[in-house]
Amino acid sequence: MTLTQMRHAKLWFAGQAANWPLAAYELDELQEGMQDAATFHPTHKDAPLPVPALIEKIMKDPVQQLEKAIAARDAGGFAQQFDALTEACNACHRATNFGFNVVTKPSVNPYSNQSFQPPQ
Ligand code: HEC
Repeated sequence: MTLTQMRHAKLWFAGQAANWPLAAYELDELQEGMQDAATFHPTHKDAPLPVPALIEKIMKDPVQQLEKAIAARDAGGFAQQFDALTEACNACHRATNFGFNVVTKPSVNPYSNQSFQPPQ
């Protein structure tokens, strides 16, 4: 989940910079990471449903909506759908009895060694 957290932050800053190819890439990587979690941790001791089922149920719709906003280069839609995605992360944390772990939209970019601006 630490990688997921990194992708989640980078996705936000890519969208903020209107670097849509980077945003698309980060969203793709975020999904791959969650697929790996589903493959390597198909069950979680505290989860009421198997992890792959939880990902499918909770994340599919927000991810698809975000993909649409990115494809449309829609900054307003991106911001809105990013919040929906973040809420879905937290919904899964609650579903896995991990609700004390709350993720939020990042306020400060911790990646000072990467430019999020679209290259000129
Ligand atoms: C399938 C359910 C599920 C989804 C979806 C999910 N998480 Fe998690 N997350 C967990 C579980 C379970 C843990 C507890 C850690 C463990 O046992 O591996 C966790 C832990 C975390 C942690 C704590 C890591 C640490 O060690 O501090 C962060 C941060 C996190 N998730 C971020 C996210 C973000 C961001 C998203 C959405 C992009 C997300 N998670 C989506 C289930 C999920």
